[in-house]
Amino acid sequence: MGSGSAVPDQRITNEQLASRVDTSDEWISTRTGIRERRILSELESFSQLCKKAGSLAIEMAGWDPESIDLLILATSTPDDLFGTATKIQAGVGANKAVAFDLTAACSGFLFALVTASQYLRSGSMKRALVIGADQLSSWVNWDDRKSCVLFGDGAGAVAIEASDVQDDLLGFKLRSDGQRGDCLTLPQISDFQALLQETSYQKGGFLPIQMNGQEVYKFAVREVPLILGNLMQELEINSESIDWLLLHQANKRIIDAVADRFKIPYSKVLTNLSNYGNTSAATIPLMLDEAVRDERIQKGHLIATSGFGAGLSWGAAFIKWHGPI
Ligand code: COA
Repeated sequence: MGSGSAVPDQRITNEQLASRVDTSDEWISTRTGIRERRILSELESFSQLCKKAGSLAIEMAGWDPESIDLLILATSTPDDLFGTATKIQAGVGANKAVAFDLTAACSGFLFALVTASQYLRSGSMKRALVIGADQLSSWVNWDDRKSCVLFGDGAGAVAIEASDVQDDLLGFKLRSDGQRGDCLTLPQISDFQALLQETSYQKGGFLPIQMNGQEVYKFAVREVPLILGNLMQELEINSESIDWLLLHQANKRIIDAVADRFKIPYSKVLTNLSNYGNTSAATIPLMLDEAVRDERIQKGHLIATSGFGAGLSWGAAFIKWHGPI
């Protein structure tokens, strides 16, 4: 029914990054398609971004925030380990909604969208706000050129509503594989300290993102076409009927490889990662919102979407954009 998004004001270009780590605009843009990213500074906060994205989605949907039953915040970077969702619930005025965080890294938005839709389909809830947002800049090692060039901060949201008339989530598939999870982690520090005599506790804290880029790349170009293809077969959808391919924005080469596999022309492929890099759980709703607001996505358009990332986790869905009534 509505979408919204928000990115920080602070912009960091590839050239600027090259003054900190041994890299270049040429290397980053040819290998990834990224030219700049937005990073939260002390002038803005993660919750403000989430709140702005959520409020814009509610506004587009034309909802009274008090009518929202459920708020799911997909994030791996809450500003409170007990969860950020309730802060956003209060911030957007969704006072009657139950709110919780959901963590599935870059697949988080898709997992949260599907989760929310199950509450709506079961009839137990009517309206949900699903937000995907991350502040990975806090967890990147800014001296590791192999990973720091990829990520940025952002937030995106959708407002979804149960309907007796039609179900615009045509189908979905979600997958997890913890056996291959080691190639992308943000692990807890193993810091055990003495508590009392002969007792210890683990002091909290996390290492920066640990990534084997090539393994992640291979995982994405193998699994995304597979899961999309399987879903297309199941739903009897052929690639010509897809209006927009909207993949998790991690690397332009991954997106192009998937488009090529299904012979989807690049004119139907939505990408904005040159401006924002990989904003993790935010990429899909951020891109969706941009394309809704500039009127590329129209009512009834069929969107093929797929998210993938740490866990490992991945999934795909076919969605028809409805928009406000
Ligand atoms: N600038 C300049 N050189 C860099 C660099 C950078 N930012 N990062 C790595 N290099 C160098 C490497 O050191 C290596 O040099 P060497 O051959 O002298 O050792 C060379 O470039 C090639 O590195 P490699 O890791 O093989 O590059 P790649 O073609 O695999 O591209 C990624 C690296 C990270 C862009 C690519 O693997 C990728 O996109 N993977 C997926 C990551 C991802 O999307 N993660 C999030 C998923 S949700």
